[in-house]
Amino acid sequence: MFLWGTATAGYQIEGAVKDDGRGASVWDTFAHEPGRIRDGHTGDVACDHYHRWPEDVALMADLGVNAYRFSIAWPRVLPQGTGRVEPRGLDFYDRLVDGLLAAGVAPVPTLFHWDLPQALQDMGGWMNRDISYYFADYAAIVAERLADRVPMWITLNEPFVHMAFGYGMGIHAPGQTLLFDALPVAHHQLLGHGLAVQALRAAGARQVLITNNCTPVWPASEEAADLAAADAYDTLHNRLFNDPILLGEYPDLKAIGAMDVVRDGDLAVISAPLDGLGINYYNPTRIGAPTDDGLPFTDHGITGYPTTAFGWPVVPDGLRELLTGLRARYGTALPPVYVTENGCSQDDVPGPDGTIDDQGRIAFLDGHIRAVEQAAAEGVDVRGYFVWSLLDNFEWAEGYHQRFGLVHVDFATQRRTPKASYTWLRDLLATKR
Ligand code: BGC
Repeated sequence: MFLWGTATAGYQIEGAVKDDGRGASVWDTFAHEPGRIRDGHTGDVACDHYHRWPEDVALMADLGVNAYRFSIAWPRVLPQGTGRVEPRGLDFYDRLVDGLLAAGVAPVPTLFHWDLPQALQDMGGWMNRDISYYFADYAAIVAERLADRVPMWITLNEPFVHMAFGYGMGIHAPGQTLLFDALPVAHHQLLGHGLAVQALRAAGARQVLITNNCTPVWPASEEAADLAAADAYDTLHNRLFNDPILLGEYPDLKAIGAMDVVRDGDLAVISAPLDGLGINYYNPTRIGAPTDDGLPFTDHGITGYPTTAFGWPVVPDGLRELLTGLRARYGTALPPVYVTENGCSQDDVPGPDGTIDDQGRIAFLDGHIRAVEQAAAEGVDVRGYFVWSLLDNFEWAEGYHQRFGLVHVDFATQRRTPKASYTWLRDLLATKR
């Protein structure tokens, strides 16, 4: 059965950051540091999903999706990241899973969507190899509670973005600016993934995936220097995370740095077989030769396409290109693929009658769903498509300024209003059934 879903993440929607014994995460700390988030927004309340989840599940049931990708907040389950388990945190996800199943929606939890317990950050976060083992312990605890009812698990969300934005450039939590010295964060996340796969399977998990953010890399020209820079960027963004998982080896990293924290046996753990690969796609990236800022490439931006409110180019065929490119590179080593995020931000303002006519989002989703179907027609085994996102939510460094939802959220009142795109998708899903 093809999975049609929506996707969200804990810190972006839950709020209730002090409820039921939840510990602090790096995002609580970061969002409260002055100047980190646009207009000083925080996820303290977000969509208040922690209290309003029955309404959100009902919205999904009405929409007609058969799957929901959400994330479990590590600091709700283990307030200090390790050690004492907080049963009320597990109880919340238990209720959510049961509520989803009762509504005919398959729960697809992601175990880490960037909200590392602050106590583990105080030990160095993902720069510290021990965190990989704590992650697997946490995965086991969650799976022992939920694996009897959860059909599909995702270990990590976008280890590339977490490394690059969180540890490399400091625009996400934990706000470090290590540039290429952040490469151990890639390895330790991947090791944590592999150890978590073992822990999940031991606890009875059925299907296990990882979600990588991928982008087709377009060289700025056919000049050798541009081609080499595009290759370096492709290595950093895509292959660094896909190769060890699917091929059991790192790509040649000499253009970007050295990975000197790999120990014997790690790659065998990281490359344990998966039941699928999650892919998050937003846009391609156009890369040219380095300038003098010290990076081995330059992002040239892409012009000539419509853009989202974020300014990201809308290139539906990039998704087809990405999926067929994965198939070409990895061949039979590529497991079934699930598009675990795809969507766009728009400046959605309710009209005088309160409705939100987000035609741009409808065009975006229509184009990208067609691209997935085209990739399937070209031989890629694609088995799911999840819209980012169900609700307008806390968009990281942008706070509440970028609206990605099928459902509009009035953050002053928490009123949910389905947008035109929600109705459009509901009608589309009805025809697919
Ligand atoms: C992340 C989401 C985020 C979305 C839009 C993805 O990188 O997984 O958490 O909201 O992109 O920026």
